[in-house]
Amino acid sequence: MIQFTLCSPAKVNLFLSVLKKRSDGYHELASLFQAINLSDQLSFKLSSEDLFTCNQDRLPTDGSNLVIKALHLFRKKTDCHFPVHIHLEKNIPHEAGLGGGSSNAATTLFALNKMAGDRYAIEELQTWSAEIGSDVPFFFSSGTAYCTGRGEQVKNLDPIDVHEPLSIVKPAKGLSTPHVFSSLQIDRLPKRDLVSYLNQFYQGEYPFFNDLESAAYIVKPELLNFRDSLLRSGFSKVHMTGSGTAYLCVGQGSPNPSFFHKPITFIRRSNEWY
Ligand code: C5P
Repeated sequence: MIQFTLCSPAKVNLFLSVLKKRSDGYHELASLFQAINLSDQLSFKLSSEDLFTCNQDRLPTDGSNLVIKALHLFRKKTDCHFPVHIHLEKNIPHEAGLGGGSSNAATTLFALNKMAGDRYAIEELQTWSAEIGSDVPFFFSSGTAYCTGRGEQVKNLDPIDVHEPLSIVKPAKGLSTPHVFSSLQIDRLPKRDLVSYLNQFYQGEYPFFNDLESAAYIVKPELLNFRDSLLRSGFSKVHMTGSGTAYLCVGQGSPNPSFFHKPITFIRRSNEWY
């Protein structure tokens, strides 16, 4: 009986630059993505019929879930239609900018391909996965990647070492990605030398920035107070990831215990996930 469990990690955007709005409605980005050890677990079992279950009742398990979108995509691209039982143990908060759903989709494609005898190359799965969402191809990267286009053009990079404690903190409320993108004031965004930013991450400086952060404050102004409370609690730097509302925090802080708070490290694919 084929049965196995895979790790499905979250990501942070160490920087995220929005370059322009495209005619297809998406935004052209340039972003430094990094996988982290905050992760979900996905279990796969060959079965007599399809079944998708999750440890969190509130999470939809219908066609709107990216796991099911990945299952449908795999069947569309291949002639593999074996029934499968998928179980998701969710730990990554949603509406957080941590890419949890996208990661689950990538893990599902990887697992179905494994069940099909590794018929397709990782690069092929990565290309297909852009049809599910802009962030999905990153989860087939080495773990550190420079992503462009709408986020789906992935260039693997060497690991980045941060020698200070890192954690993710998130308030209870989340943010919808399309809502944040539609609140962007593109004309007001600074022009940046991205190569220089990239180099600085390899020289022991961490010039985090996120063009979506100001848009997130337009949608939810109360996040400004949340960010300030994190700085007051002791963190030396706090930086919103993706479209929020999770923050990557550097140093030691003691945020209000009602908030989601997890120490994290950066991880590489093939050592720490599939
Ligand atoms: O690609 P994905 O389905 O994850 O994107 C969700 C939404 O986020 C898009 O419909 C779009 O509104 C916004 N988005 C964008 N530009 C990107 C990525 C996402 O405007 N590069």
